[in-house]
Amino acid sequence: MTEQHPPVCDYEGSDYQTSFWEEGGRAYEDKAEEIALKRLLPKSGKLLLEIGAGAGRNTPRYKDYERIVLLDYSRTQLQQAQERLGENDRYIYVAADAYRLPFVDGLFDGATMIRTLHHMKDAPAVLRQVRRVLQPASKFLLEYANKLNLKAILRYLLRKQDWSPFTPEQVEFVALNFDFHPKTVRKWLKEENFKLERQLTVSHFRIGVIKKIFPSSFLAWLDSFAQLTGDLWQLAPSVFTISQAVGETEIASADAFFQCPQCNHAPLDETPETLTCPGCNAKYAIRNGIYDFREPL
Ligand SMILES: C[S@@+](CC[C@H](N)C(=O)[O-])C[C@H]1O[C@@H](n2cnc3c(N)ncnc32)[C@H](O)[C@@H]1O
Repeated sequence: MTEQHPPVCDYEGSDYQTSFWEEGGRAYEDKAEEIALKRLLPKSGKLLLEIGAGAGRNTPRYKDYERIVLLDYSRTQLQQAQERLGENDRYIYVAADAYRLPFVDGLFDGATMIRTLHHMKDAPAVLRQVRRVLQPASKFLLEYANKLNLKAILRYLLRKQDWSPFTPEQVEFVALNFDFHPKTVRKWLKEENFKLERQLTVSHFRIGVIKKIFPSSFLAWLDSFAQLTGDLWQLAPSVFTISQAVGETEIASADAFFQCPQCNHAPLDETPETLTCPGCNAKYAIRNGIYDFREPL
């Protein structure tokens, strides 16, 4: 399946960071993810692309990268990230669609995508874009929502759920929210020129009653051991993977950065308030420190 412009799950104006994370009782999941990130992230890097950065919950965890591009479709999520991270030249904020990344080929030496693939109807198309903007041998840390999780298996066997967790196709459990089969994600990564290096299963204890009984730090500690089985089997609701970009592809020249998402022309002419594409004349706004490629002015 490859669509030209697949639909986007729009978080504009959403209070996701507060309602889901800060007030949503997800301290355990947040800690478990921090542990997985620490295990998988490279120890150093120059320029990281964080796709679906949201309000920047994970961005401080990428401390070993010199600079980070926070990319998100939602301008208001990026504004929240700016408030959280403060004024800092290390961070570059870009509002854009992951299906049309506004960067030249081979720009980044790392990329992450956490809790974002699950909004992608056409996941291979996004993985292709990620590979395009990565330099050869760079690392891609991808998290995805796993349809083959224990809870889904039990619900299916007890006939409380009509879709099968065992079949390879993705399941859209709510509009534009997809769970994927681990085998299918591995196949896509391979097809899009990524070599899978390691998998960690995360949030094994994401069950309301367990979270009520045990403190989040204890569950995260238990999870840290369970995560290590990720290369053997994947039965947790979330899977973290690290892959290497393979194949002989370009490395961007030192002065190249943005490219036009309409016509793929680069470089763009920059003034303090706009970027203009000499190829198709499209103009993109730079507002309050956010490069806005969602649509031309
Ligand atoms: C569930 S949030 C995760 C945010 C962050 N990664 C985290 O883990 O806290 C998903 C994010 O993906 C962004 N998103 C969804 N579809 C997108 C697309 N097509 N292009 C860019 N960002 C997208 C949303 O705006 C939202 O901020």
